[in-house]
Amino acid sequence: VEVRASSGGLTKVRASSEGQIGYALAPMIARGLMLGPDQVVILHMLDIPPVAEALNGVKMELVDAAFPLLKGVVATTDVVEAFTGVNIAVMVGGFPLQEGMERKEVMPKNVSIYKAQASALEKHADPNCKVLVVANPANTNALILKEFSPSIPAKNITCLTRLDHNRALSQIAERLNVHVSDVKNVIIWGNHSSTQYPDVNHVTIMTKDGEKKVRELVSDDQWLNGEFITTVQQRGAAIIKARKLSSALSAASSACDHIRDWVLGTSKGTWVSMGVYSDGSYGVPAGLIYSFPVTCEKGEWSIVQGLKIDDFSRAKMDATANELAEEKSMAHSFLE
Ligand code: LMR
Repeated sequence: VEVRASSGGLTKVRASSEGQIGYALAPMIARGLMLGPDQVVILHMLDIPPVAEALNGVKMELVDAAFPLLKGVVATTDVVEAFTGVNIAVMVGGFPLQEGMERKEVMPKNVSIYKAQASALEKHADPNCKVLVVANPANTNALILKEFSPSIPAKNITCLTRLDHNRALSQIAERLNVHVSDVKNVIIWGNHSSTQYPDVNHVTIMTKDGEKKVRELVSDDQWLNGEFITTVQQRGAAIIKARKLSSALSAASSACDHIRDWVLGTSKGTWVSMGVYSDGSYGVPAGLIYSFPVTCEKGEWSIVQGLKIDDFSRAKMDATANELAEEKSMAHSFLE
């Protein structure tokens, strides 16, 4: 069934729900935070057999919450049942990172999971299914998913960097003591990892005197070019250290933001960051899933073109592209 912004059409959404992100995400979707307040949904939740009973408990809770938009819940450990007919697939399942681990350490386990899921998705999901990969290494998992589901359009397979984008907006808002909704157009370039480049060169802040560039308001270039960048790059690790668990509510919330803007469109004059299949824009090698600034309209994203890139940015954009190229060859070597 088509995803429509304001119709009674049914939308099936799949999300692994037993895990922390899934548990946070399911009620957000059911409340309309992902597809809007007029879109009814059917949730398909997939998890592994050892947690089938717990997954069923989540289904019971979703039923108990009596969400007006929730027209059905499928809780299953069978990929075919999970993927059949879905319009949107949010891939949160995977082997999780633990404190002190780098994303590439979970790669061998996760690439084989994503290869298997690619085939199931291709065979059973709606042919125009939109896919968002959240589980790490998110860009490379998405790339493997893309490579092993050749009949799904490449444009439909994306990964989450909206979490990093939102973190960057919030860091700036905190620093300037303004509301986060007054800050816009940060860019996350590259990998959802510690090499990502949060670029503030186009950020604007809405003030009572109109829109200002962030560099006019934050006089401390050292902060913008140093601590700001590392704070955003390391934020996932800082959350793991504090919670002894990966981020979950912020990941779920930004996954909703990602899909909502993709399906319903970005607001005028505003872009967001999404990990998408590179077409070579900004000199980023084609054939990587790389985070770019995008605008969305009528369910399609397009990369914002023509932004000026200085030498500082160029070096950081290349470094994160190099890491993605390394991850890609590493992933291929595990799959051989
Ligand atoms: C995050 O950015 O919070 C997560 O990607 C951390 C992780 O690797 O689980």
